[in-house]
Amino acid sequence: MLPGVSAQDFVPDGGGLAGLRKAAADCRGCELWEAATQTVFSAGPAGARLVLVGEQPGDQEDRQGAPFVGPAGRLLVKAVDEAGIPREVIYRTNAVKHFRFTQAGPGKRRIHQTPELRHITACRPWLVEELRVVDPEVIVCLGATAVRALLGPSVRVMRDRGELLTRETSLGAKTFLVTVHPSAVLRADDQDAAYAGLVADLRIAAAALT
Ligand code: URA
Ligand code: SF4
Repeated sequence: MLPGVSAQDFVPDGGGLAGLRKAAADCRGCELWEAATQTVFSAGPAGARLVLVGEQPGDQEDRQGAPFVGPAGRLLVKAVDEAGIPREVIYRTNAVKHFRFTQAGPGKRRIHQTPELRHITACRPWLVEELRVVDPEVIVCLGATAVRALLGPSVRVMRDRGELLTRETSLGAKTFLVTVHPSAVLRADDQDAAYAGLVADLRIAAAALT
């Protein structure tokens, strides 16, 4: 099989989340698996009502093999709590499942690199299958990469954030909410205002849960 085509060739038929997680560990759907430590799949129950979709694992996530365990993840958990969303109804995942980074030399710090459209497209079959299995009430796109993966170029984070968007998808009509990525909050000049904006958006998503 040619490498670097798409994750589709690695997605199993059936097997639920556990089957997807196991198969994703061996994905070679693009070149990002090579330099990364491991596939970072997801966290949360199959019965979750709300899905948070991030960009890609960061340095900590790559080392630990779990999503949102680094600084941005901690900020996100705090924001979710503050928005009144019970943690146990949340499934957390990323648009791209391997850490993309540059490194100047051995022992040098690994610098996050934004995934390109081809990585997002290659990895998308995992996300689609996760959403099929979990079948949440609301899908929250955290930042531009998640938006590119699920909503396409007509949706803009800063213009369209904080509104419930209903879209016809291959999985039927789905409700989406777009907001900023937690690492954008960490980078913001006014962190308090950026954090308050994230919490306000998450409250809109919370209110949409039945
Ligand atoms: N940023 C993300 O988008 N996802 C993670 O899992 C961690 C940081
Ligand atoms: Fe597969 Fe996605 Fe990793 Fe690429 S980034 S190898 S498509 S899991």
